[in-house]
Amino acid sequence: MIICHQASELHQLLNTYRREGKSIALVPTMGNLHRGHVRLIEKAVGLADIVVSSIFVNPMQFGRHEDLDKYPRTPDADIEKLTAAGCAVLFAPSVKEMYPLGLVEHTVVSVPAISARHCGASRPGHFDGVATVVSKLFNLVKPDHAVFGLKDYQQFKVIRKMNADMCFGIQLTGVATERDENGLALSSRNGYLSAAEKHTALTIIQTLRSTAAQIENGMRDFAALEQAAKSVFESRQMRPDYFSICRADTLAPASADDKQLVILAAAYVGTTRLIDNIEINL
Ligand code: PAF
Repeated sequence: MIICHQASELHQLLNTYRREGKSIALVPTMGNLHRGHVRLIEKAVGLADIVVSSIFVNPMQFGRHEDLDKYPRTPDADIEKLTAAGCAVLFAPSVKEMYPLGLVEHTVVSVPAISARHCGASRPGHFDGVATVVSKLFNLVKPDHAVFGLKDYQQFKVIRKMNADMCFGIQLTGVATERDENGLALSSRNGYLSAAEKHTALTIIQTLRSTAAQIENGMRDFAALEQAAKSVFESRQMRPDYFSICRADTLAPASADDKQLVILAAAYVGTTRLIDNIEINL
């Protein structure tokens, strides 16, 4: 695997591949890779000749009181995993390389409406940070394909809208959430959890599954289901952020006759904020 730290090196290298007629797939990450990321690389390997991954803990998508400084950074282990999974090129820029004039003066890419709900409401500016860094990566790599995990369901929808609105023309692929043997969605933030907290965190997927089952059985009082789910979280010493039954396309609140739904959930287990979701096709 070739590692580039600078955009100019990456540009030169990728031009060579393009001249050879090779297709490129991009897998953007923030590192601390787990099996879920490996699945994204494996998916990308099946889509294009060359897989480029990026590792960049993007300061623009972290709020002032969030975990930017303590976000886990494990470059050596990440390089091993990427190499084994078939990644050809790693782009690992510094903050200075991505934001030479700092964050304040940098252009911001903002995707309205869909960014404002759910995680966007709880983490103001988060999706502007995501959309900005992903659009930079799209422009730097100019991939034919880009692959993202569906655990970050809203993120995927935001990027899909940005890709369409800004005419990037990249084929986007969302990959199903990878889970541990108990069903907990894999996340770099699981590393913050104690064994007891990991057990408590299973409440999220259990509640998503039981709520989905009730909807599949004909229950349509979504407000009551949302409230009941939040009460379950509270009864297990978790702090619910949101539990929302939504239309899968716009992530707006679902109405009783919608057929393609997704339930999005976010909750704090101790001080760790976890997200998960479940799709429902009626
Ligand atoms: O999902 C992530 O890891 C990040 O939000 C992404 C897409 C790499 C942008 O920083």
